[in-house]
Amino acid sequence: MERAIIRGGARLCGTVRMSGSKNAVLPVLAASILAGSPSIIREVPRLDDVLTICEVLQSLGARVLFHSGGEIEVDASSVSETEAPYDLVRRMRASFLVMGPLLARLGHAKISLPGGCAIGARPIDLHLKGFEALGARVSLGDGYVKVVSPGLTGQKVYLDFPSVGATENIMMAASLSEGTTFIENAAEEPEIIDLGNFLSNMGAEVRGAGTKVIRIDGRRELHGVDYTVIPDRIEAGTFMVAGAITRGDVIVSNVVPEHLKPVIAKLQEAGARVFEESETQVHVIGPERPQAADFKTLPYPGFPTDMQAQMMALMCVADGTSIITETVFENRFMHVGEMKRMGADIKIEGRSAIVRGSENAWGAPVRAPDLRAGAALMLLGLRAQGITEISGLEHIHRGYADIAGKLRSLGGDIQRVPDLI
Ligand code: UD1
Repeated sequence: MERAIIRGGARLCGTVRMSGSKNAVLPVLAASILAGSPSIIREVPRLDDVLTICEVLQSLGARVLFHSGGEIEVDASSVSETEAPYDLVRRMRASFLVMGPLLARLGHAKISLPGGCAIGARPIDLHLKGFEALGARVSLGDGYVKVVSPGLTGQKVYLDFPSVGATENIMMAASLSEGTTFIENAAEEPEIIDLGNFLSNMGAEVRGAGTKVIRIDGRRELHGVDYTVIPDRIEAGTFMVAGAITRGDVIVSNVVPEHLKPVIAKLQEAGARVFEESETQVHVIGPERPQAADFKTLPYPGFPTDMQAQMMALMCVADGTSIITETVFENRFMHVGEMKRMGADIKIEGRSAIVRGSENAWGAPVRAPDLRAGAALMLLGLRAQGITEISGLEHIHRGYADIAGKLRSLGGDIQRVPDLI
């Protein structure tokens, strides 16, 4: 276990390169088990969640090789196990993404009910509804979900909510099914488009990924491919807020500005100057003091829930009062208690947080309650007066590749030290 020690006050300046997207690479790695031949995945970020999904793939019988350039090769020709162990699935909810591929490839799967960040109940009913529509039988018991099908056939599946994971799981299962599947009210996130491209390259025909209706013409067999995942838009958004909150001057490179529209708009509303310098670079110049701005999290293209905590950190030091409403998850304000320890004035009312900005935050010992919340505490620590000690770094390492090193490269005073407790 480790802690981060941050001495606040430095203006961050310079250029920082973003890693490949965590939320794109996890489904892509899961989808690689649909193929009878090896795939090479490039721009894979070095993250604990990536190691976990690779362990899941290995436990199913896939051969996973880590190349020195950061690529991962997955040979799933020998996959024969259909049970994903409790230990791994408990560690990361996205392990559940192997269910669709296993069901389609081997006709059955048994997966422990998922774990992951403790942000709300996070049911999996929509994933299961999709599998049932394609012809699978679903049963629950002893903490496991079992799905069985002698052969999946394309169907229309309507999602009550545009769940990212359910859309991905159904896309993967449908790609190795008979006939045509339509996913209606599908999630439209950029990671869905990336998975659609990966599946198309493998031989399936996927149309409409990134819109509300996705059409998938399945194939009897899919083949391995060489694929580069998109840059991480949430990591990019986090570093853009880092520039803004420290009155800094930061160029974030290896980004797709199009994916960051709602974050850019909110940063501009808060008084940051943001320039899309090229197709892969965004430049952020922070204001002396941000302005308060209200926002509401929504499925893409709305403001991402995965940026709510980081933007709240900015609002803690803003001039004025902001109302932040979380509509995607029902329990995603766990950072609020920790931010209050750093002097923030925040009141929760139902699904909204009312943040009364104050000129200064101060350093304090805090604990990262989940991945994005942990990053948000780092951001507030960079602005705060004095020293912030953040424990629970393991949450942050699930989703940020060398965040402390990247912040240091911009001039942030942040050290990682072993947690002796
Ligand atoms: C993915 C992202 C996560 C992000 C989230 C929303 C990955 C690995 N993780 O998570 O970082 O915060 O999208 O953008 O890509 N729901 C149901 N039934 C279901 C599935 C979901 O009710 O079967 C609900 C959830 O409880 C939640 C909402 O739908 O309230 C959104 O969940 P979903 O879009 O599925 O998120 P994940 O795929 O888990």
